[in-house]
Amino acid sequence: MDVLDPPQAALSDERLLAFAERQARPLLLGIPADGDDRVPVPVEATGPDVPLPPGLHRMLDSAPYPRGRVDSDVPVRTRVLGTIAAAAPQRFEVRSAVNPHRAYPAAHCFYSAQLFLLTAGGAWHYDASGHLLRPVAGDAELDRELDGPASLAVVCHLGSVPTRYRELRWSLSLCEAGHLLELLAQVGSAHRLAVRTRRDLPDAALLDRLGLRARDGWTPAGAVELDAPGEGGARPPAAGPDTGMSWAQVLFERSAGRANKGFSPAPVPLAATAAEALLAAIGRAADGVPSAAESGVDVVLASRDVEGLDPGCHLIEDGRARRRIAGPDMDALQRSFAYPATQMSIAGCPAALLMITDHAAAVREGGERGLRLLQLRLGAIAQAAGMALTPHGGFLRPARSFDPDPLAAALRLEPTRLPAYVAPLGVNRFTDLLLDVRR
Ligand SMILES: Cc1cc2nc3c(=O)[nH]c(=O)nc-3n(C[C@H](O)[C@H](O)[C@H](O)COP(=O)(O)O)c2cc1C
Repeated sequence: MDVLDPPQAALSDERLLAFAERQARPLLLGIPADGDDRVPVPVEATGPDVPLPPGLHRMLDSAPYPRGRVDSDVPVRTRVLGTIAAAAPQRFEVRSAVNPHRAYPAAHCFYSAQLFLLTAGGAWHYDASGHLLRPVAGDAELDRELDGPASLAVVCHLGSVPTRYRELRWSLSLCEAGHLLELLAQVGSAHRLAVRTRRDLPDAALLDRLGLRARDGWTPAGAVELDAPGEGGARPPAAGPDTGMSWAQVLFERSAGRANKGFSPAPVPLAATAAEALLAAIGRAADGVPSAAESGVDVVLASRDVEGLDPGCHLIEDGRARRRIAGPDMDALQRSFAYPATQMSIAGCPAALLMITDHAAAVREGGERGLRLLQLRLGAIAQAAGMALTPHGGFLRPARSFDPDPLAAALRLEPTRLPAYVAPLGVNRFTDLLLDVRR
Protein backbone atom coordinates (compact mmCIF):
# COMPACT_ATOMS: atom_id res chain seq x y z
CA MET A 1 0.00 0.00 0.00
CA ASP A 2 1.42 3.39 -0.99
CA VAL A 3 1.61 6.15 1.61
CA LEU A 4 -0.51 9.10 0.52
CA ASP A 5 1.30 12.43 0.44
CA PRO A 6 0.51 14.74 3.36
CA PRO A 7 -2.15 17.27 2.40
CA GLN A 8 -0.95 20.21 0.31
CA ALA A 9 -3.00 23.10 -1.01
CA ALA A 10 -2.52 21.87 -4.59
CA LEU A 11 -4.24 18.51 -3.97
CA SER A 12 -7.79 18.02 -5.22
CA ASP A 13 -10.61 17.87 -2.67
CA GLU A 14 -10.97 14.14 -3.44
CA ARG A 15 -7.31 13.47 -2.61
CA LEU A 16 -7.53 15.55 0.55
CA LEU A 17 -10.58 13.66 1.69
CA ALA A 18 -8.99 10.29 0.85
CA PHE A 19 -5.98 11.22 3.00
CA ALA A 20 -8.13 12.45 5.88
CA GLU A 21 -10.27 9.31 5.89
CA ARG A 22 -7.21 7.06 5.75
CA GLN A 23 -5.27 8.67 8.60
CA ALA A 24 -8.43 8.49 10.72
CA ARG A 25 -8.28 4.65 10.54
CA PRO A 26 -4.79 3.83 11.87
CA LEU A 27 -5.62 0.16 12.40
CA LEU A 28 -5.89 -0.25 8.61
CA LEU A 29 -2.47 1.32 7.99
CA GLY A 30 -0.51 -1.73 9.12
CA ILE A 31 1.89 0.23 11.32
CA PRO A 32 4.71 -2.09 12.48
CA ALA A 33 5.62 -2.00 16.18
CA ASP A 34 9.33 -1.37 15.65
CA GLY A 35 11.61 0.73 13.49
CA ASP A 36 13.18 4.07 14.12
CA ASP A 37 14.32 6.13 11.14
CA ARG A 38 13.76 9.57 12.63
CA VAL A 39 16.04 12.28 11.26
CA PRO A 40 17.58 15.21 13.17
CA VAL A 41 15.57 18.44 13.07
CA PRO A 42 16.93 20.26 9.98
CA VAL A 43 17.56 23.82 11.14
CA GLU A 44 20.57 25.82 10.03
CA ALA A 45 22.17 28.11 12.61
CA THR A 46 23.07 31.62 11.49
CA GLY A 47 25.03 32.39 14.65
CA PRO A 48 26.10 31.07 18.04
CA ASP A 49 23.63 29.32 20.39
CA VAL A 50 22.05 31.40 23.16
CA PRO A 51 21.60 29.30 26.34
CA LEU A 52 18.43 30.19 28.25
CA PRO A 53 18.87 31.34 31.85
CA PRO A 54 18.31 28.55 34.40
CA GLY A 55 15.24 28.45 36.66
CA LEU A 56 12.75 30.17 34.33
CA HIS A 57 10.06 27.69 35.44
CA ARG A 58 10.37 28.95 39.02
CA MET A 59 8.50 32.13 38.09
CA LEU A 60 5.38 29.95 37.97
CA ASP A 61 6.02 28.48 41.45
CA SER A 62 4.29 31.39 43.12
CA ALA A 63 1.41 31.69 40.64
CA PRO A 64 -1.57 29.64 41.89
CA TYR A 65 -3.36 27.61 39.19
CA PRO A 66 -5.64 28.50 37.47
CA ARG A 67 -6.08 32.22 38.16
CA GLY A 68 -2.70 33.32 39.49
CA ARG A 69 -0.20 35.24 37.40
CA VAL A 70 3.48 36.08 37.47
CA ASP A 71 4.34 39.43 39.12
CA SER A 72 4.01 42.38 36.78
CA ASP A 73 7.39 43.76 37.91
CA VAL A 74 9.21 40.83 36.25
CA PRO A 75 10.58 42.23 32.95
CA VAL A 76 8.49 41.33 29.89
CA ARG A 77 11.52 39.75 28.18
CA THR A 78 11.94 37.32 31.11
CA ARG A 79 8.26 36.42 30.96
CA VAL A 80 8.53 35.71 27.21
CA LEU A 81 11.47 33.37 27.92
CA GLY A 82 9.44 31.83 30.77
CA THR A 83 6.66 31.08 28.29
CA ILE A 84 9.14 29.32 25.98
CA ALA A 85 10.42 27.31 28.96
CA ALA A 86 6.92 25.83 29.34
CA ALA A 87 7.81 23.65 26.32
CA ALA A 88 10.91 22.25 28.04
CA PRO A 89 11.32 18.70 29.37
CA GLN A 90 9.77 18.51 32.84
CA ARG A 91 10.16 15.05 34.33
CA PHE A 92 11.73 11.65 33.79
CA GLU A 93 9.50 8.73 34.77
CA VAL A 94 11.90 6.09 36.01
CA ARG A 95 9.88 3.04 34.97
CA SER A 96 8.24 4.46 31.84
CA ALA A 97 9.08 3.08 28.39
CA VAL A 98 9.31 6.62 26.99
CA ASN A 99 11.00 9.75 28.39
CA PRO A 100 11.37 12.61 29.18
CA HIS A 101 7.87 14.04 29.65
CA ARG A 102 6.76 17.60 29.06
CA ALA A 103 3.78 19.78 29.99
CA TYR A 104 2.08 18.61 26.78
CA PRO A 105 1.83 15.11 25.35
CA ALA A 106 3.43 13.69 22.22
CA ALA A 107 2.91 10.19 20.84
CA HIS A 108 5.77 8.09 22.27
CA CYS A 109 7.43 11.34 23.39
CA PHE A 110 8.53 11.94 19.76
CA TYR A 111 8.03 15.73 20.10
CA SER A 112 7.84 16.58 16.43
CA ALA A 113 6.26 20.03 16.89
CA GLN A 114 9.14 22.50 16.87
CA LEU A 115 9.04 25.90 18.55
CA PHE A 116 10.53 29.09 17.07
CA LEU A 117 10.81 32.57 18.55
CA LEU A 118 10.20 35.37 16.06
CA THR A 119 10.89 39.03 16.73
CA ALA A 120 10.96 42.07 14.42
CA GLY A 121 14.62 41.50 13.63
CA GLY A 122 15.35 37.83 14.12
CA ALA A 123 14.24 34.22 14.52
CA TRP A 124 15.47 31.43 16.82
CA HIS A 125 14.77 27.70 17.07
CA TYR A 126 14.16 26.45 20.61
CA ASP A 127 16.33 23.38 21.16
CA ALA A 128 14.37 21.82 24.04
CA SER A 129 16.95 19.20 24.99
CA GLY A 130 19.75 21.77 25.11
CA HIS A 131 17.37 24.41 26.57
CA LEU A 132 18.83 27.01 24.24
CA LEU A 133 17.84 29.26 21.38
CA ARG A 134 19.62 28.77 18.06
CA PRO A 135 19.45 31.72 15.65
CA VAL A 136 18.01 30.72 12.28
CA ALA A 137 17.60 34.12 10.62
CA GLY A 138 19.56 37.36 10.75
CA ASP A 139 22.16 38.27 13.32
CA ALA A 140 19.98 40.29 15.70
CA GLU A 141 20.85 40.28 19.38
CA LEU A 142 18.25 38.37 21.39
CA ASP A 143 18.31 40.66 24.42
CA ARG A 144 17.57 43.76 22.40
CA GLU A 145 14.91 42.05 20.28
CA LEU A 146 12.94 40.94 23.35
CA ASP A 147 12.08 44.56 24.13
CA GLY A 148 9.43 44.45 21.37
CA PRO A 149 6.55 42.08 20.56
CA ALA A 150 7.44 38.42 20.11
CA SER A 151 5.77 35.53 18.40
CA LEU A 152 6.15 31.82 19.19
CA ALA A 153 5.66 29.84 15.99
CA VAL A 154 5.04 26.08 16.04
CA VAL A 155 6.06 24.14 12.93
CA CYS A 156 5.67 20.37 12.59
CA HIS A 157 8.68 18.35 11.49
CA LEU A 158 7.30 15.07 10.15
CA GLY A 159 10.79 13.53 10.11
CA SER A 160 10.70 13.47 13.92
CA VAL A 161 8.10 10.68 13.74
CA PRO A 162 9.28 7.32 12.25
CA THR A 163 8.04 6.70 8.69
CA ARG A 164 6.38 3.45 9.85
CA TYR A 165 3.54 5.65 11.15
CA ARG A 166 2.68 6.42 7.50
CA GLU A 167 -0.25 8.88 7.12
CA LEU A 168 -0.60 9.10 10.90
CA ARG A 169 2.65 11.09 11.13
CA TRP A 170 0.79 14.13 9.82
CA SER A 171 -2.05 13.94 12.36
CA LEU A 172 0.09 12.95 15.36
CA SER A 173 2.34 15.89 14.69
CA LEU A 174 -0.43 18.44 14.13
CA CYS A 175 -2.41 17.28 17.17
CA GLU A 176 0.75 17.63 19.24
CA ALA A 177 1.19 21.13 17.82
CA GLY A 178 -2.39 21.94 18.86
CA HIS A 179 -1.52 20.82 22.40
CA LEU A 180 1.63 22.94 22.41
CA LEU A 181 -0.09 26.08 21.06
CA GLU A 182 -2.77 25.86 23.76
CA LEU A 183 -0.12 25.33 26.45
CA LEU A 184 1.86 28.38 25.25
CA ALA A 185 -1.27 30.55 25.12
CA GLN A 186 -2.25 29.57 28.66
CA VAL A 187 1.24 29.98 30.07
CA GLY A 188 1.71 33.30 28.22
CA SER A 189 -1.43 34.55 29.99
CA ALA A 190 -0.13 33.21 33.32
CA HIS A 191 2.95 35.33 32.58
CA ARG A 192 0.62 38.32 32.36
CA LEU A 193 1.24 38.77 28.64
CA ALA A 194 -1.35 39.73 26.03
CA VAL A 195 -1.82 36.55 23.97
CA ARG A 196 -3.24 35.93 20.50
CA THR A 197 -3.22 32.50 18.84
CA ARG A 198 -2.92 32.54 15.03
CA ARG A 199 -3.54 29.55 12.79
CA ASP A 200 -3.76 31.52 9.55
CA LEU A 201 -0.15 32.52 8.86
CA PRO A 202 1.01 32.20 5.24
CA ASP A 203 3.01 28.96 5.07
CA ALA A 204 5.66 29.88 2.53
CA ALA A 205 6.43 33.25 4.13
CA LEU A 206 6.71 31.68 7.58
CA LEU A 207 9.02 28.86 6.44
CA ASP A 208 11.10 31.44 4.59
CA ARG A 209 11.43 33.64 7.70
CA LEU A 210 12.66 30.61 9.64
CA GLY A 211 15.08 29.42 6.94
CA LEU A 212 13.13 26.13 6.60
CA ARG A 213 12.47 24.15 3.42
CA ALA A 214 9.06 22.54 2.87
CA ARG A 215 10.79 19.58 1.20
CA ASP A 216 12.44 18.75 4.55
CA GLY A 217 8.98 17.77 5.83
CA TRP A 218 7.94 20.99 7.60
CA THR A 219 4.26 21.85 8.07
CA PRO A 220 3.42 25.16 9.78
CA ALA A 221 0.87 24.81 12.57
CA GLY A 222 0.37 28.26 14.08
CA ALA A 223 1.79 30.92 16.33
CA VAL A 224 1.13 32.52 19.68
CA GLU A 225 1.74 36.27 19.58
CA LEU A 226 2.91 37.72 22.89
CA ASP A 227 2.95 41.35 23.89
CA ALA A 228 3.06 43.45 27.02
CA PRO A 229 -0.54 43.89 28.14
CA GLY A 230 -2.11 47.21 27.27
CA GLU A 231 -4.51 49.20 29.38
CA GLY A 232 -6.49 46.97 31.73
CA GLY A 233 -3.84 44.24 31.92
CA ALA A 234 -3.87 40.72 30.58
CA ARG A 235 -6.96 38.57 30.78
CA PRO A 236 -6.68 35.96 33.57
CA PRO A 237 -5.42 32.73 32.00
CA ALA A 238 -8.32 30.66 33.26
CA ALA A 239 -11.31 30.84 35.54
CA GLY A 240 -12.26 28.47 38.32
CA PRO A 241 -11.66 28.00 42.03
CA ASP A 242 -8.20 27.80 43.54
CA THR A 243 -6.77 24.29 43.27
CA GLY A 244 -3.94 24.44 45.79
CA MET A 245 -1.42 23.81 42.99
CA SER A 246 0.89 26.29 41.31
CA TRP A 247 1.19 26.67 37.53
CA ALA A 248 4.66 25.17 37.81
CA GLN A 249 3.28 22.05 39.52
CA VAL A 250 0.52 21.63 36.94
CA LEU A 251 3.07 21.78 34.10
CA PHE A 252 5.29 19.30 35.94
CA GLU A 253 2.54 16.79 36.72
CA ARG A 254 0.25 16.89 33.67
CA SER A 255 0.15 13.34 32.44
CA ALA A 256 -1.36 10.92 29.94
CA GLY A 257 -1.54 8.35 32.73
CA ARG A 258 1.55 6.73 34.08
CA ALA A 259 2.20 3.12 33.26
CA ASN A 260 4.87 0.53 33.56
CA LYS A 261 4.09 -2.84 31.98
CA GLY A 262 0.38 -2.35 31.53
CA PHE A 263 -1.89 0.56 32.14
CA SER A 264 -4.96 0.73 34.31
CA PRO A 265 -6.67 3.60 36.13
CA ALA A 266 -7.40 3.75 39.87
CA PRO A 267 -10.84 2.28 40.62
CA VAL A 268 -12.29 5.57 41.83
CA PRO A 269 -14.95 7.90 40.40
CA LEU A 270 -14.09 11.22 38.83
CA ALA A 271 -14.89 13.72 41.58
CA ALA A 272 -17.52 16.40 40.90
CA THR A 273 -14.91 19.17 41.34
CA ALA A 274 -12.66 17.51 38.73
CA ALA A 275 -15.59 17.08 36.33
CA GLU A 276 -16.56 20.75 36.76
CA ALA A 277 -13.00 21.90 36.06
CA LEU A 278 -12.84 19.58 33.04
CA LEU A 279 -16.08 20.86 31.51
CA ALA A 280 -15.18 24.50 32.12
CA ALA A 281 -11.76 24.04 30.48
CA ILE A 282 -13.32 22.35 27.45
CA GLY A 283 -15.83 25.19 27.23
CA ARG A 284 -13.06 27.80 27.11
CA ALA A 285 -10.84 25.91 24.67
CA ALA A 286 -13.76 25.11 22.35
CA ASP A 287 -15.13 28.67 22.48
CA GLY A 288 -15.61 29.80 18.88
CA VAL A 289 -15.00 26.31 17.45
CA PRO A 290 -17.89 25.42 15.12
CA SER A 291 -19.73 22.10 15.33
CA ALA A 292 -18.47 19.08 13.36
CA ALA A 293 -21.17 19.66 10.72
CA GLU A 294 -19.77 23.18 10.20
CA SER A 295 -16.15 21.93 9.82
CA GLY A 296 -15.27 22.01 13.54
CA VAL A 297 -15.49 19.55 16.44
CA ASP A 298 -18.28 18.01 18.53
CA VAL A 299 -17.08 17.11 22.01
CA VAL A 300 -18.69 14.18 23.81
CA LEU A 301 -18.02 13.00 27.35
CA ALA A 302 -18.61 9.28 27.85
CA SER A 303 -19.29 8.95 31.56
CA ARG A 304 -19.01 5.65 33.43
CA ASP A 305 -18.44 6.87 36.96
CA VAL A 306 -18.51 10.66 37.23
CA GLU A 307 -19.94 12.24 40.37
CA GLY A 308 -22.98 14.33 39.51
CA LEU A 309 -23.29 13.05 35.93
CA ASP A 310 -25.42 10.15 34.72
CA PRO A 311 -23.59 7.27 33.07
CA GLY A 312 -23.74 7.46 29.27
CA CYS A 313 -22.64 9.87 26.54
CA HIS A 314 -23.19 13.61 26.91
CA LEU A 315 -22.74 16.27 24.24
CA ILE A 316 -20.63 19.12 25.68
CA GLU A 317 -21.64 22.64 24.69
CA ASP A 318 -20.55 25.93 26.28
CA GLY A 319 -18.72 24.01 29.00
CA ARG A 320 -21.81 22.05 30.03
CA ALA A 321 -23.02 18.49 29.57
CA ARG A 322 -25.88 19.71 27.42
CA ARG A 323 -27.77 16.54 26.51
CA ARG A 324 -27.61 12.78 26.56
CA ILE A 325 -26.87 11.10 23.26
CA ALA A 326 -26.42 7.50 22.13
CA GLY A 327 -22.83 6.36 22.30
CA PRO A 328 -20.31 3.71 23.32
CA ASP A 329 -19.69 2.62 26.91
CA MET A 330 -16.18 2.04 28.25
CA ASP A 331 -16.21 -1.62 27.23
CA ALA A 332 -16.93 -0.60 23.65
CA LEU A 333 -14.09 1.94 23.85
CA GLN A 334 -11.79 -0.81 25.11
CA ARG A 335 -12.74 -3.04 22.16
CA SER A 336 -12.02 -0.22 19.69
CA PHE A 337 -8.60 0.48 21.24
CA ALA A 338 -5.49 -0.58 19.35
CA TYR A 339 -3.88 -2.05 22.45
CA PRO A 340 -5.33 -5.13 24.17
CA ALA A 341 -6.70 -4.78 27.71
CA THR A 342 -3.63 -6.62 29.03
CA GLN A 343 -1.53 -3.64 27.90
CA MET A 344 -3.94 -0.74 28.20
CA SER A 345 -6.89 -1.40 30.43
CA ILE A 346 -9.12 1.59 29.82
CA ALA A 347 -12.52 0.01 30.53
CA GLY A 348 -12.15 0.96 34.20
CA CYS A 349 -11.66 4.66 33.44
CA PRO A 350 -14.43 6.77 34.96
CA ALA A 351 -14.84 8.70 31.69
CA ALA A 352 -13.46 9.45 28.24
CA LEU A 353 -13.64 12.35 25.81
CA LEU A 354 -14.59 11.62 22.23
CA MET A 355 -14.03 14.35 19.67
CA ILE A 356 -16.00 14.07 16.46
CA THR A 357 -15.05 15.64 13.14
CA ASP A 358 -16.46 15.78 9.62
CA HIS A 359 -13.59 15.69 7.14
CA ALA A 360 -15.85 16.40 4.16
CA ALA A 361 -17.13 19.59 5.86
CA ALA A 362 -13.56 20.63 6.78
CA VAL A 363 -12.33 20.15 3.20
CA ARG A 364 -15.35 21.99 1.81
CA GLU A 365 -14.82 24.89 4.19
CA GLY A 366 -11.06 25.23 4.16
CA GLY A 367 -9.38 22.65 1.89
CA GLU A 368 -6.00 21.54 3.20
CA ARG A 369 -6.03 24.33 5.79
CA GLY A 370 -9.40 23.10 7.01
CA LEU A 371 -7.98 19.63 7.72
CA ARG A 372 -4.94 21.08 9.46
CA LEU A 373 -7.09 23.36 11.60
CA LEU A 374 -9.17 20.39 12.74
CA GLN A 375 -6.10 18.58 14.10
CA LEU A 376 -4.92 21.74 15.86
CA ARG A 377 -8.32 22.22 17.46
CA LEU A 378 -8.45 18.61 18.69
CA GLY A 379 -5.07 19.04 20.35
CA ALA A 380 -5.97 22.39 21.91
CA ILE A 381 -9.20 21.12 23.49
CA ALA A 382 -7.47 18.01 24.85
CA GLN A 383 -4.57 20.05 26.27
CA ALA A 384 -6.93 22.34 28.17
CA ALA A 385 -8.86 19.31 29.45
CA GLY A 386 -5.71 17.48 30.57
CA MET A 387 -4.32 20.50 32.41
CA ALA A 388 -7.61 21.10 34.22
CA LEU A 389 -7.63 17.50 35.54
CA THR A 390 -4.05 17.63 36.84
CA PRO A 391 -4.68 19.33 40.22
CA HIS A 392 -7.30 16.64 40.89
CA GLY A 393 -4.72 13.86 40.52
CA GLY A 394 -6.20 13.18 37.11
CA PHE A 395 -4.73 12.10 33.79
CA LEU A 396 -6.02 12.40 30.24
CA ARG A 397 -4.62 9.95 27.70
CA PRO A 398 -4.80 11.19 24.12
CA ALA A 399 -5.36 8.34 21.66
CA ARG A 400 -5.35 8.10 17.89
CA SER A 401 -4.79 4.36 17.62
CA PHE A 402 -8.34 3.07 17.73
CA ASP A 403 -10.98 1.88 15.31
CA PRO A 404 -13.39 4.81 14.83
CA ASP A 405 -16.09 2.95 12.86
CA PRO A 406 -17.78 0.96 15.67
CA LEU A 407 -17.67 4.12 17.81
CA ALA A 408 -19.30 6.13 15.00
CA ALA A 409 -22.00 3.46 14.76
CA ALA A 410 -22.65 3.57 18.52
CA LEU A 411 -22.85 7.38 18.35
CA ARG A 412 -25.23 7.07 15.35
CA LEU A 413 -23.16 9.58 13.42
CA GLU A 414 -23.91 10.81 9.92
CA PRO A 415 -21.83 8.87 7.36
CA THR A 416 -19.34 11.74 6.89
CA ARG A 417 -18.54 12.01 10.62
CA LEU A 418 -16.02 10.09 12.73
CA PRO A 419 -14.54 10.26 16.20
CA ALA A 420 -11.02 11.51 15.38
CA TYR A 421 -9.59 11.67 18.89
CA VAL A 422 -10.44 9.66 21.98
CA ALA A 423 -9.08 10.44 25.45
CA PRO A 424 -9.76 8.07 28.35
CA LEU A 425 -9.35 9.94 31.62
CA GLY A 426 -9.27 9.23 35.32
CA VAL A 427 -7.00 9.06 38.30
CA ASN A 428 -3.60 7.38 38.18
CA ARG A 429 -3.17 4.03 39.89
CA PHE A 430 0.52 3.59 39.21
CA THR A 431 2.96 5.79 41.12
CA ASP A 432 6.32 6.26 39.46
CA LEU A 433 9.47 7.88 40.77
CA LEU A 434 9.54 11.24 39.00
CA LEU A 435 12.89 12.91 38.40
CA ASP A 436 12.78 16.67 37.97
CA VAL A 437 14.65 17.48 34.73
CA ARG A 438 13.71 21.15 34.57
CA ARG A 439 16.69 23.46 34.24
C1 LIG B 1 -1.62 13.12 19.20
C2 LIG B 1 -1.34 12.05 20.20
C3 LIG B 1 -1.76 10.75 19.96
C4 LIG B 1 -1.54 9.74 20.89
N1 LIG B 1 -2.00 8.47 20.62
C5 LIG B 1 -1.92 7.53 21.57
C6 LIG B 1 -2.52 6.25 21.37
O1 LIG B 1 -3.09 5.99 20.32
N2 LIG B 1 -2.45 5.34 22.37
C7 LIG B 1 -1.83 5.62 23.56
O2 LIG B 1 -1.79 4.76 24.45
N3 LIG B 1 -1.23 6.83 23.78
C8 LIG B 1 -1.28 7.78 22.82
N4 LIG B 1 -0.73 9.03 23.06
C9 LIG B 1 -0.18 9.32 24.40
C10 LIG B 1 1.33 9.43 24.40
O3 LIG B 1 1.93 8.19 24.14
C11 LIG B 1 1.78 10.03 25.74
O4 LIG B 1 1.34 11.33 25.76
C12 LIG B 1 3.27 9.97 25.86
O5 LIG B 1 3.66 8.68 26.21
C13 LIG B 1 3.81 10.92 26.88
O6 LIG B 1 3.22 10.73 28.14
P1 LIG B 1 2.74 11.99 28.99
O7 LIG B 1 1.67 12.67 28.17
O8 LIG B 1 2.24 11.41 30.27
O9 LIG B 1 3.90 12.87 29.19
C14 LIG B 1 -0.89 10.04 22.11
C15 LIG B 1 -0.46 11.36 22.35
C16 LIG B 1 -0.69 12.35 21.41
C17 LIG B 1 -0.25 13.75 21.69
